[in-house]
Amino acid sequence: MTSLSTTKADTNQRTATVRHFLSLFDLSAAEIIQILDRADILKQQREQGTLERTCVYKNMAMIFEKSSTRTRVSFEAGMAELGGHALFLSSDSTQLGRGEPICDSARVISSMVDVIMIRTFAHATVEELAAFSSVPVINALTDYNHPCQLLADLQTIRQQCDKPFEEISVAWIGDGNNMCNSYLAACIQLGFQLNIATPKTHQPDQELIQKAGNKVMLTTDAKLACQNVDIVTTDTWISMGQEDEKAQRREIFRDYLVDSTMMELADNNATFLHCLPAYRGEEVTDEVMESTQSSVFQQAENRLHAQKALIEFLLNKIPN
Ligand code: CP
Ligand code: NVA
Repeated sequence: MTSLSTTKADTNQRTATVRHFLSLFDLSAAEIIQILDRADILKQQREQGTLERTCVYKNMAMIFEKSSTRTRVSFEAGMAELGGHALFLSSDSTQLGRGEPICDSARVISSMVDVIMIRTFAHATVEELAAFSSVPVINALTDYNHPCQLLADLQTIRQQCDKPFEEISVAWIGDGNNMCNSYLAACIQLGFQLNIATPKTHQPDQELIQKAGNKVMLTTDAKLACQNVDIVTTDTWISMGQEDEKAQRREIFRDYLVDSTMMELADNNATFLHCLPAYRGEEVTDEVMESTQSSVFQQAENRLHAQKALIEFLLNKIPN
């Protein structure tokens, strides 16, 4: 007979060894490359109709406390393609929305599924979920970062630039937000040059800037940041949860619109990236979005491949 104390010890042990993906720092540089390599294989297999079902009978709970198109579709379709299943849980249709604590929800949900994905506001919520979950937790965006998006961006950057990450340069233009913090984490992990142009009042996380050292160049001048870079990228000026600051933010960021003049300052073969959704006429012009330099839809599709590779990695299912 299993005693209560044995059950609790087993659960604690499982929790201690489980791998989570709350930021790019939860992976080594070699593991990031392993996931990107697998993502390229999964993309190719999908095109050839030879996908392997590596996660049969595996279930993913997807907790959404904010809106989503790409993240929901890519995780849900991705789990189905892997032979598993995904459950969509919005905060207003679960007890989370009625105040059931994260620490209780984590233990309940993780006792029934194999992996949990969460999109929420405070980063501390994701950390608490991971601390109490007995299965891997994937951060699908917080106010602090968006690491899943970065896996797709890195896959796209590798597809576009035929050189090692250490030789690549990226310009981040606009708000020093969750996406910008994730670019900083990627630059720290993989060693590319990152030029960040933001207003002084909207810089990214200072700890990450310190950590990036001379790999990061901080400026308020968007044109300076774009000089000769391989990648120009930006994001909305008004992130989810900042809707009340709309008018003020449109004013603060008016000099940070990525247009064709800005793209001309970058390398001739430079690529434009945007995590989407994009607001044409605010952070980027329609012309740049639709130009041959724009790889935003390839980037969006890569969410599917990169996250499938991540799920396989966290569930120890990447074939040898
Ligand atoms: N880029 C991204 O995460 O898009 P969604 O908000 O549509 O999921
Ligand atoms: N910075 C944006 C990213 C959306 C994918 C937001 O947090 O709303």
